[in-house]
Amino acid sequence: MQHLCHMAATRVRCYLRLVPGSLEYAGVLADKETGKTMSNGGGSRAAIREKRDDAMAGNDETQSGIDITKPNVARMYDYYLGGKDNYAADREAARWVLGSAPDVPLAALENREFLKRAVLFLAQEQGVSQFVDIGPGLPTQGNVHQLARQQDPDARVVYVDNDPAVIGHSRSLLEGMPGVTIISGDLREPERILTHPELAACIDLTRPVALFMSLVLHFIPPDDDPHAVVGRFRDALPLGSFLVLSHVTSDGRESGPLTMISDTYGDANAPLIMRSHAEVARFFDGFELADPGVVFLSQWRPTGEYFAHGGTRWAYAGVAEKP
Ligand SMILES: C[S@@+](CC[C@H](N)C(=O)[O-])C[C@H]1O[C@@H](n2cnc3c(N)ncnc32)[C@H](O)[C@@H]1O
Repeated sequence: MQHLCHMAATRVRCYLRLVPGSLEYAGVLADKETGKTMSNGGGSRAAIREKRDDAMAGNDETQSGIDITKPNVARMYDYYLGGKDNYAADREAARWVLGSAPDVPLAALENREFLKRAVLFLAQEQGVSQFVDIGPGLPTQGNVHQLARQQDPDARVVYVDNDPAVIGHSRSLLEGMPGVTIISGDLREPERILTHPELAACIDLTRPVALFMSLVLHFIPPDDDPHAVVGRFRDALPLGSFLVLSHVTSDGRESGPLTMISDTYGDANAPLIMRSHAEVARFFDGFELADPGVVFLSQWRPTGEYFAHGGTRWAYAGVAEKP
């Protein structure tokens, strides 16, 4: 609660800067005074139901050591995609993002479409049969193992995430599915991930691997040197391996909405660091980019006219091979 109040105070500062004298300004002040959330007045039937559902769900999740009071990046993404594995704090934070960038759910869908095209490209055209997906998020439609196994029923897939909720949900989904697993690991620790016994049991690191880092590197701040981290994965992977990457960008955006989005993720379990085209392209150092290079994610081998135009332009994407 204290945390949500702190969040509200942060937003008040932003709104004062963005729209002084507007209705939103009056609404936020009222909220600051009452301590209620902004979304629906705090007293509607939907809000009451939401609180009740969360209180019930909270019992389970507290037992598993998952913090449902703090916005969580995996669960906010789940909310953008219309999923059900999210809680009031996630939805409230997501609404602040959507208030500044209403097309974020479309960007999330564009990213899922990009993933689909990337897996098809690798499995169909490049003959890749081993996949490591770091930061897969909560299970949704068209997960990497489902897409890969449509092309190759023997494809092997290891998911890696540092979120216990993602691990828990995925484990139950993947139970009894040989050749597909999820391990707990942090992207910033490549050696621990690549030497994990469960990964070693599934992936042959002497043969090419497709390494997915889709919408995850922007959660790694500069202090953790994400470019060096990707370089360590690159050096450890065999020749002929691929890197698949998508990353949120601030290119072409105005500072107001960007500040609101950064502040909101600043209150979540991981900060959001947007990067320029040049910074995203640098992740591919030492790789050979497949056509069309690093582009807005909907422009990566687009299948429709909408995609070809660039879509929401919230993220860049690319696929590259270790030569
Ligand atoms: C926005 S979701 C991306 C989901 C999916 N890759 C996609 O592109 O649709 C980001 C995921 O990265 C995970 N994540 C964030 N930081 C991480 C880290 N340092 N190590 C491993 N996973 C991380 C989150 O828990 C979440 O599941």
